[in-house]
Amino acid sequence: MQYSKIIKEPIEHFSVKPNLHDYHMMYRELNWDKISRDMDWFDSEHINIASVIIDSHLKTDRRDKKALIWENQKGEQEEYTFAELARLSNKFANILVSQLGIRKGDRVFFFLERVPEIYIGIIGTLKAGGVIGPLFSAFGPEAVKDRLIDSRAGVLVTSPALKKKISEIIPELPDLKNIITVQKGKDKADPGDISYEEAMAAASDSFDTVKTKKEDYAIMHYTSGTTGKPKGAVHVHGAVLGHYATAKYVLDLQPQDIYWCTADPGWVTGTSYGMFGPWSNGITQVVYDGAFSAKRWYSFIERRKVTVWYTAPTAIRMLMKAGDDLPGQYNLKSLRYTCSVGEPLNPEAVVWGKKVFDKPFHDNWWQTETGAIMIANYPVQDIKPGSMGRPFPGIRAGVLDDDFNELPHGKEGNLALRPGWPSMFRTYWEKEEMYQSKFKNGWYITGDKAKKDEEGYFWFVSRADDVINTAGHLVGPFEVESVLIEHPAVAEAGVIGKPDPIAMEVVKAFVSLKENCEPSEKLKHDIQKFVMKRLSSAAAPREIEFIASLPKTRSGKIMRRLLKAKELGQPLGDTSTLEED
Ligand code: PRX
Repeated sequence: MQYSKIIKEPIEHFSVKPNLHDYHMMYRELNWDKISRDMDWFDSEHINIASVIIDSHLKTDRRDKKALIWENQKGEQEEYTFAELARLSNKFANILVSQLGIRKGDRVFFFLERVPEIYIGIIGTLKAGGVIGPLFSAFGPEAVKDRLIDSRAGVLVTSPALKKKISEIIPELPDLKNIITVQKGKDKADPGDISYEEAMAAASDSFDTVKTKKEDYAIMHYTSGTTGKPKGAVHVHGAVLGHYATAKYVLDLQPQDIYWCTADPGWVTGTSYGMFGPWSNGITQVVYDGAFSAKRWYSFIERRKVTVWYTAPTAIRMLMKAGDDLPGQYNLKSLRYTCSVGEPLNPEAVVWGKKVFDKPFHDNWWQTETGAIMIANYPVQDIKPGSMGRPFPGIRAGVLDDDFNELPHGKEGNLALRPGWPSMFRTYWEKEEMYQSKFKNGWYITGDKAKKDEEGYFWFVSRADDVINTAGHLVGPFEVESVLIEHPAVAEAGVIGKPDPIAMEVVKAFVSLKENCEPSEKLKHDIQKFVMKRLSSAAAPREIEFIASLPKTRSGKIMRRLLKAKELGQPLGDTSTLEED
């Protein structure tokens, strides 16, 4: 739906009150070369993300500024200055290098809750020249196994509880040499594992950060596609330039801000904007480690005096559901700037933000592959509710037809970007051919459908593929189908995204059963639990429908398109390749 109403951005929203003309000029002039010239973290060749985000502040008055303020649902709190994060990450780097022999390019993966140690470990790994791979703590054993086998990670940093969850797959990981467990006061680490606390206590706190180059690999995030297992999108140390610039100019981070990014560090938003973007700008950030509840979130904003808030549409829709009166019971006046990413943000949500917080949500668009925000409702630009905004300065976005030629405005097509920005992924880990297949006619094809209006605002239409976006988590239907058919009662399975008012889409599975297996509610629950345990709760089908057989092409491929059309009550279209009975 398109709102005709435009929200004018009042200048009072910004802590620094530029004159509107200057701001527009600044955006017009902004380009990557200028940003790199302005910063002092580069020599001509070298850059290390950890040095930029933490150590670069040590010689400034930000040295003893709070970098991380953490609290969990139980009310436990921890705070770290930039100097403390520098010291602790040095220790972690020493553990990796001196004790475990980690060298530049080695993969160190994190399967950890949202605790301070994940931040310290990630910074330390980057200092050591390792490539970080964060894994969402809600993943089950199968999801973790796929990613650890594919990346050939040699070190896993985890917790006793999460290690227990995946204990069955650990013997199946030939490349995994060391496990570090963050004990947090629990008993000793398992025999053969390293206790994070003990190793940190023994490690030296001085470390010479490994001299990484701009193009050296630094970050891996797994992302799901239509077919096959998830692929590792690889980003380089030079990407931090993009994180820095977009955090500054899209999220409008200013020195005195208290910033809250609600994304989990297991996903790309949790690293690009939950670590690299804010800290490269020297910003204090607050982290809440707890389950969602509208009351807890509002109370956190009030208590922590959050000024800039970066969240996601599903969360906003849940807040809307909790009622318009609730925000009034808290003092949320500290909020000055609010942003959203990850799924389409319905125009009502933008307008709701304006109504209850007097701050409209600024939607922006990007992907794991793009590494940083590409299209945004950035400050002082009027917001068109329902639009993702305009390309960030230096980024060229286009809408292409199926021959990859640019379409005029108003036409729906493939959203594409001209390659070459710093945070762009450099490959899919050991899947170079698949990486190359994403580039056509000089464009990177994003896999989304969109249109552009006459003022250059982009409007999201849909995904161009079968990938399901549930509450901002991309779920590959193939991954879910593969697990479903491992269930003893399941013969075949086809998985689609079913529209949902809160999560945008939920996973729905069509399942045909093996002979002698009777459909029942109990079996549905059993299958749901089966997927949840192996993959994650997001990937577990919210709905299961038993059907006699699945529509397939002559070559035996399940036609998800038909399942989706059936679900939506739409015409079935071309069914000529359907299997014959
Ligand atoms: O389909 C788009 C959707 O989320 C995808 C990227 O997901 P992921 O790789 O997990 O990256 C998460 C970091 C943002 C996109 O291809 N998406 C993201 N932002 C928006 C969006 N869809 C609509 N509007 C958005 N603002």
